[in-house]
Amino acid sequence: MRKRSLISAFAALSAAGAATLAYAALVERNMFTLRRFDVPVLEPDAEPLRILHLSDLHMMPDQRRKQEWVAGLGGADPDLVIVTGDNMADPESLPGVLRALDPLLGVPGAFVFGSNDYRGPVWKNPIQYLMPDREYVQGVDLPADELRAALIDAGWADLNNARTVLKAGGRSIELAGVDDPHIERDDYPSVAGPISAGADLHLGVTHTPASRVLDAMAADGFALLLAGHTHGGQVCVPGVGALTTNCDLPTSMAKGLHRWPGSDAWLHVSAGLGTHPTAPIRFACRPEASLLTLIPR
Ligand SMILES: [Fe+2]
Repeated sequence: MRKRSLISAFAALSAAGAATLAYAALVERNMFTLRRFDVPVLEPDAEPLRILHLSDLHMMPDQRRKQEWVAGLGGADPDLVIVTGDNMADPESLPGVLRALDPLLGVPGAFVFGSNDYRGPVWKNPIQYLMPDREYVQGVDLPADELRAALIDAGWADLNNARTVLKAGGRSIELAGVDDPHIERDDYPSVAGPISAGADLHLGVTHTPASRVLDAMAADGFALLLAGHTHGGQVCVPGVGALTTNCDLPTSMAKGLHRWPGSDAWLHVSAGLGTHPTAPIRFACRPEASLLTLIPR
């Protein structure tokens, strides 16, 4: 009798585990969500400014639902679009990424790249995602140059180790960005320096929220720092949150809006819209884009 109840309990647990995995792979992975935050970084009496922050699309060519959802974000009426990298997951992904972004390309925008704009994924044990010191393995070449050219053609600013000023929402916005720190392509010193007094707003942009980059941007006076990469932990524990950020950011800051410690800067980390194709699940961490409404301090 006791053996039979143990077998029943094990069967029930196995069924619950399988149901959870099916939910994470088939349901939550496609529950695209637009999050909204107010960020108090503008001068007193300034009109609000809306920034649409997209990250980590990890687009596969056949992900039409994701492409259509992103394409519909033009309805949020952003003044500026910032994309923090990891757009592609396959050498054939470029048309799908551009289909998704097309309605947004008429809005002023800027981008940095992540490792998954240069090289595709390789299969690895999903448990390795939780291991901080695992080796980075590179996959097939992705069409990063073609994506870069298409976004620049649309008038968007390439912020990979670059700094610029652009006009958006009637304001002058200074932006500094780095190429992906996760694969050590960042060169913030080449663009570092105090913010310019002539601009109305100062944004720092990076794919991976590496502390060495965020500290330096905040020290230069950039008021709002934007990053992706973490996937918000991707597989989270309800009531606990992320188990990893895949970088040196604390798990308490795996996604959302936070003050960057030791500075006046705000940090917004996007949990992103995709998954690594070899671990196509999300749990207690919906795929997201963010609409940041900048308001007076
Ligand atoms: Fe990513």
